[in-house]
Order: sequence, then C-alpha cells, then structure tokens
Amino acid sequence: MSTKRGNWNSKLGFILAASGSAIGLGNIVFFSSNAYQYGGGAFYLPYFVALFVLGLPIMMMEFGMGTLTGKSFPLALRQLAGKRAEFVGWWSIASAMFITAYYVAILGWAFGMMVGAFGSLFEPGITAPFAPFANPTESASAMVYFFSLLATWWPVVFIFVIWGLNLLILRNGTATIERAVRIFVPLMWLFMIGLVVRGLTLDGGFDGAMYLFTPDLEGIADANVWRGAFSQMFFSLSLGLGTMTAYASYLPKDADQVNNSLLVSFLNCGFEFIAGLAIFSLLFVYALNPAGSTLSLSFFVIPQGINELSTIPWITRLFGFLFFFLIVIAGLTSSISLIEGPAAALIDKLKISRRKALTIIAVPCMIGSVLCTLPIIVDQGLNGNGTLGLSILDITDHWVFSYSLLIVGLVECLAIGWILGADKLRLALNQYARYPLGRWFNVLIKYVIPTLLATVILSSLWEERSALYGSGVDMVGFNWLPLFIPVFWLVVSLGFAYYLTKKPYEA
Ligand code: TRP
Repeated sequence: MSTKRGNWNSKLGFILAASGSAIGLGNIVFFSSNAYQYGGGAFYLPYFVALFVLGLPIMMMEFGMGTLTGKSFPLALRQLAGKRAEFVGWWSIASAMFITAYYVAILGWAFGMMVGAFGSLFEPGITAPFAPFANPTESASAMVYFFSLLATWWPVVFIFVIWGLNLLILRNGTATIERAVRIFVPLMWLFMIGLVVRGLTLDGGFDGAMYLFTPDLEGIADANVWRGAFSQMFFSLSLGLGTMTAYASYLPKDADQVNNSLLVSFLNCGFEFIAGLAIFSLLFVYALNPAGSTLSLSFFVIPQGINELSTIPWITRLFGFLFFFLIVIAGLTSSISLIEGPAAALIDKLKISRRKALTIIAVPCMIGSVLCTLPIIVDQGLNGNGTLGLSILDITDHWVFSYSLLIVGLVECLAIGWILGADKLRLALNQYARYPLGRWFNVLIKYVIPTLLATVILSSLWEERSALYGSGVDMVGFNWLPLFIPVFWLVVSLGFAYYLTKKPYEA
C-alpha cells in the first residue's frame, strides 16, 4: 500500500523539490517589500533570529514527521500526537487551500505581465495600458499597465493557464514533480543571478545593497518588525501548512533530515539574499519609490526600472520578460507544493485516487482564484485596492497568512514537544544525522518557540481589536467583505477540519 504513495527518485530530486517549494513569490515579491517596509537593515537581525530559532528547528520537525511516519501532515500528527493534533493538521490543510487560491491568482498576474513583455509593457520610457500583444501607445507607467491589466478579464484566462500547468505537473505525483523541478529550479537560479549581476554593475546599484544590509538597531524594538520577520520566515520556508511533511514522506526512512533542513534553508535564504540585492540595487539606481501595497514593488516599481535598463528595445523586453518568467517558474514550483500537501493528505486518509484528490482541491481553489481576479472596480482612486479581486485577495491574505502559519507552528511544537516528547523526535532525527542535535533542540521546541509564537500571535490579535482589517477603505457596495472573509475562512476551515478528523481511518 505505502509504496503506491510515490517516492523521490533521488535525494537531489527531493532537495530540488523542497527548495523549489521554499523559493517562490515569498522570496522575490514578499521578501523585498517586507524588507523595505520594515526598514532594510532593521529587518535582517529579526530575520536571522527567525531563521535559526524558528525556521530551522521547525523544518527539521516537519521533515522528521514525514520520514518518521511515512505519512502526510494530518495523519503524521495523529500517529505522533493523537486525534486532536490531527484536527490541527486538517485545519492547516484547509488554510493551505485558501493560500493556494490567491497564490495562483498572483501568479496569473505575473503571467499577464510576462505576456505584456511582448506587447507594450517594456517599451523603453513608455508603458501603455494593458492590451496583450498590442503595440505601444503613449502612456504613463507600469503601474497603469498593471491596474489596467487587473481591470480586464484576462487574468481569469491566465489563472486557468497556471492551474493547468500545476495539475499537469502534479498528475503523477513525485514522478512528474521531479521532472518539472529539475528544469525549473536551476533555471530560476540562473535568471536571478543574471539579474543581480546586472543590478549591481549599474551605477549606484551598490548603494541599494548597502541599504539592505547595513544593520539598523533602531527598529529592533518594534514588535511589528519581529512579527513581519517571523511570518516571512515561515512563509518563505514553506512551514506551517503541511507542505514539507508531505514532501518528506516520499523519502526513505534513513534520510538525514538535519542535513536536508540545513541545505534547503540555506538554498532558500541564499536565493532570498540574492533577490534582495537585485531588487534593492534597481530601486537605488532608478531612485524608485516602492511605497504602496505588497505587490507594487515587483509588479510595477521594478518593471519601471527594467524599462530603463537599456536603450535597446529588445534587451529591455528580454529583461522584462525574464523577470516575470522567473517569478512564474519560481511560483509554480511553490504552488505545486501548496497543492501537493492537501492532495497527499486526502489520498492518505480517504484512500482515494490522486486524480480525485486533485479534483477535490482544484475546484474550490480555482473558484477562489477567480474571485481574486474579479476585475470589478470598487475603489476608483486606487487608494485602497482598486479591484474587487485585489480587495478579496488582500483581506484573505491578511487573515490566513498572518495567523494560520504561526498558529499551526505553535500547536505542532506543543504537540510534538509535550505529547510525543521533543526528545523522541530528536533521537529519531539523530539516528541518521551526520550532525546530531543537542538537547538545546528540546528546549527550543518545548519552550522557546511556543513562547515566541504565542507572544507574536497574541500581540497581533491585540492590535486587531480597534478596527477590522480592510474596513478603512470604502469599497462601494462591498463593505461587508472585511467581516465576511475572516468569518468565512474560520467556519469553512474549522468545519473541514472537523469533518476530516471524524472520518474513520484504519492504517
Ligand atoms: N515558500 C513559498 C514562497 O516563498 C510559498 C509556499 C509554498 C508556502 N508552500 C508553502 C508557504 C507552505 C507556506 C506554507 O513563495
């Protein structure tokens, strides 16, 4: 039975898949805007703390759960820590599906910008409103282009393209995933290295790098900076949604998960570092102002810089195309993992076929992606979010992203640390580890991480009390959304978790 679940052909296949999962929109789009928002150099001390204190130990734990049980996240939690832990596992799977819905929507827009490179997006100096493959007309900026793209129905077409690619890659599980990541992961490294070399060799590019990496101790006292760094780290390393456990469950029992965690985190944060250099160098060279929403930096500030990268039109277009192609492939190798986590969980528990599991996931998530790309303008001034889709995306992201990952991280540490016993996991990991873990690991899992996460989660909730997120923007006719979305998410995800935990299961 268990052999049918699939397995990686090689250790390299696993490392490529897991690092491909980790490296995605988080490393390019979200990291740079977080780092900017939280003050460049002020960000990276909390960031390193987040990496060593939270990220690495939790990745070891999530990888370890996969090889130890040979099962995906909810069932691994059930086997190691009982049914109540399984409930949290399913809740995280539900949240993964919410995130998948809007993650694919963002990829759809990136795809749209990539298409735009063949049309009017990257004409040096000018950028026309969105019209795929059209000739340039006179106009303002990449921002205009982006928002006029959002105001068409084209992104709906693009998300179907992205969903199609995801399902194609996932259709035979590990076999097809491995084939895709062998091509995409090296390619995205290549393009990113090209971009950073170009960025740093431009006049003034180095100053951007300095801004990003000069420590700034002033921001360190700000709780928001820490919360930003923690969430960023969880998201970037693909933790807290069952992804890494699913991928690790396809490895042989004797995999060295300490080493694998070090390798995957190193690759992920290395990529993030290079991406940060590339983006900040462009910002400084062209004195661009990255103010605005999370997406603005990658979707229209950087394209603006790319417009001026060269006076030779085809080179500009090529750079523009490659930048969005890079985002699309980096995002694809992540979105497949976001879908594989839930798919593996459903296959394991319900003993259904892969095709059926993928259908159960894809249908509601695709509807979610379409909702996030609805081009209805709700905010004419574009002060808030512009389109209905973008508002839905933004509010969903606020709740699911800020809370699910950290709450699941907290609960899994408590479950593994206190119910199973952190020492049991540590000894199991050490059995095959070249660098065995010391007792400090138990202390981190049992006390340090839960305390840090609980503090951050509670302080975030405390700050929510004054006004519901998103209620400050007048979304003509849709002002019920800021309340509806969090309620919908909680009811649906908790109901889903309850239903699946209740389902009978024999191993
Ligand atoms: N890590 C990916 C990124 O940086 C996104 C991602 C994939 C993810 N799987 C995940 C995030 C699981 C959280 C949990 O873009």
